[in-house]
Amino acid sequence: MSLAGPIGFFRPPNISPDLQDGIGRWRGLDLANALMSGVSPDGRHYYPALPYVAYAKMQPRDVADLMAYLRSLPAVSGKPPEHDVPFPFTVRRAIGLWKLLFLDRSPIEPDSNRDDSWNRGQYLAEALGHCTECHATRNLLGAVKPATRYAGGPDQEGTGFVPNITPAGIGHWSRDDLVELFTTGSTPDGRRVGSSMADVVVNTATLGLQDRQAIADYVLALPSRPTPQP
Ligand code: HEC
Repeated sequence: MSLAGPIGFFRPPNISPDLQDGIGRWRGLDLANALMSGVSPDGRHYYPALPYVAYAKMQPRDVADLMAYLRSLPAVSGKPPEHDVPFPFTVRRAIGLWKLLFLDRSPIEPDSNRDDSWNRGQYLAEALGHCTECHATRNLLGAVKPATRYAGGPDQEGTGFVPNITPAGIGHWSRDDLVELFTTGSTPDGRRVGSSMADVVVNTATLGLQDRQAIADYVLALPSRPTPQP
C-alpha cells in the first residue's frame, strides 16, 4: 500500500516474520529500537511516518508482547517499492536532526490526581493509539504543533479535516458515546466514521471494554482547544 504523508508517499514495509523480506531476523531489541527510537537494525533513521513520536512512550513489556505476536504471524515474502519522497527528505541523516527537535523520549508520567482509568487512557491514547498523529496540525517540518494536539487539522492522507476531539469539538459527547464509536464506529448524531478513523475503529473494537472506557475518560478530560484554522 501507499501512505500519503505531509512530505510524500510512504510504502509501509513487510513486518511479517519472513527471513529475507520481513523482520524474521530481528531481535526484541531491534523492534524496541525501531518503535521507540525510530532506528533500523542497520542504524538507519526511519521517517516519522512510523509514529515513533508516540511509540517512544511504549512500555517495554508491551513491545515484547507485540514482538511475540508479530512472530506468530505467517511469513510473507516480497518487499514494497521505495518511498516516494522529494529532496531534501531523501536525506535520512536529516531525520536525526528532526528527532533532536521533535522526538521526546521521556516516558508518560502517571498523574496521581487522576484515577486509574484516566491514567490507562492516557497511555493508550498517547503511546499506542497515537491519536494526535492525525487529530492535530503540523508545522512546516511535519511535526505536530503542541497547541493543536487533539484539536484537529488537515487530513494527511487525503482531503478534508480531521475533527477536533477536545471539548470544543465533542464536548456534548458522553462517555458511552465515545465507547460506542470505538466499538462500532457510530457517532451520537447517527453517522459512521469513515476514512482513516474506520481503520482505527477496527483496532479499538478489539480492545477490552475497560480500555475503550479508559480512552473515553482521557479524551473527555482533555483541555478544550480551538480548532486550528485550515
Ligand atoms: C490515522 C488517523 C487517525 C487516528 C490515528 C485517529 N483518528 Fe480519530 N478520526 C480520524 C478521522 C479522519 C476522523 C473523521 C472521520 C469521519 O468523520 O468520517 C476521525 C474522527 C474521530 C472522532 C469523531 C469526531 C466527530 O466529531 O465526529 C473521534 C471521537 C475520534 N476520531 C477519536 C480518536 C481517538 C480517541 C483516537 C486515538 C485512540 C483517534 N481518533 C485516532 C483520524 C484518526
